[in-house]
Amino acid sequence: MTIQRYTLLQRLLHWLIALMVFGLLAAGFTFWSLGYEGTVGLFGEELTNMLYKIHKTFGILLLLLMIARIALRRVSPAPPHDPPLSGVERMVGGGIHLLLYALLIGLPIGGWLATAASGYPIQFFDLTLPGIIGENKELGATLFFYHGIGGLVVLGLVLVHTAAGLKHWRLKDGIMTRISLP
Ligand code: HEM
Repeated sequence: MTIQRYTLLQRLLHWLIALMVFGLLAAGFTFWSLGYEGTVGLFGEELTNMLYKIHKTFGILLLLLMIARIALRRVSPAPPHDPPLSGVERMVGGGIHLLLYALLIGLPIGGWLATAASGYPIQFFDLTLPGIIGENKELGATLFFYHGIGGLVVLGLVLVHTAAGLKHWRLKDGIMTRISLP
């Protein structure tokens, strides 16, 4: 068995993006289940506004990091598995990775458009970025609904992906070494 690993930069990006996704999902589901008023009731106005700003800023950072990750993936493709994966493993694992890539690009763009259509500012640190589309409250509500559904799908995929990662870690078959930092 020869273990070939992703490059250090790809491994760093994997774990940085994983941390960001966990944080974004936690904040997103808090907003989704409590709404703005409910979140203010729990955390107070100042902290709630800060949480919304952090969610938007990190969502845009996620988009930039995902674009960088896809570009890197083209320069350095995933290293081959030795021994090779079975057809089913390649299809299921590869399918989940592909869906994660698509959703982690689509979700921040959807959040950006939903925020703009609802008439809220697109905050990126202390900057306000252009909304891209004009205000349309009804469209904003629809886009936020699908933004939430997208978050649920990402949560489901991340849970399955993490369970698979833990299984490979227990099996000590070298798959976790491909992506681990040290
Ligand atoms: C939000 C959390 C996470 C996201 C979005 C995510 C996403 C991804 C994606 C898209 C890939 C494919 C990389 C590529 O081929 O370009 C990947 C690979 C991998 N991930 Fe994650 N991941 C997350 C968390 C985790 C966790 C918690 C574990 C372990 C418990 C893990 C273990 C792995 C392993 C072992 C691979 C390498 C698969 C291989 O090519 O052999 N990931 N991850």
